[in-house]
Amino acid sequence: MSIDWPALWKWVSDQFPLGHQSSHGPAHWRRVERNGLLLATRTGADATIVRLFAVFHDSRRHNETHDPQHGLRGANLASEMRGRLFDLDDASFATLIHACTWHTDEARNDDSTIGTCFDADRLDLGRVGIIPDPNYMSTGFGRTVAHAGSIQPFLSTES
Ligand SMILES: [Fe+2]
Ligand SMILES: [Fe+2]
Repeated sequence: MSIDWPALWKWVSDQFPLGHQSSHGPAHWRRVERNGLLLATRTGADATIVRLFAVFHDSRRHNETHDPQHGLRGANLASEMRGRLFDLDDASFATLIHACTWHTDEARNDDSTIGTCFDADRLDLGRVGIIPDPNYMSTGFGRTVAHAGSIQPFLSTES
């Protein structure tokens, strides 16, 4: 089953309760996707899982502040949509579910795909005035970007 990405994005965005201007909403998801695809060029991550993480990980946030269960709810939404808006084999799906569920609770993860998901999300912390911390990066490339303080220079050299 090939993934109709525009349809997937529209469906998940339409159910998101906090609006397009939310700091945890679709504009953030797009930057996480962009960051993740850049990181994946060097980390060996599975790009499809990274893209699915981007769209689902914050998709069920109930508020902009303290919402400790939002990763689990995002994972549950991905489970509901598996076989409808996308499909993955069992091992890949387990990786996606882990990344969504634990993206705020785990400091780091050694799996290259999960680590890339976490780093892609944390490298967008500048949107809320937080400089990404290299100590909370899972991948070597993520640490390099965090040390630089911004992903912008890396985006312009890759494009
Ligand atoms: Fe989150
Ligand atoms: Fe996020």
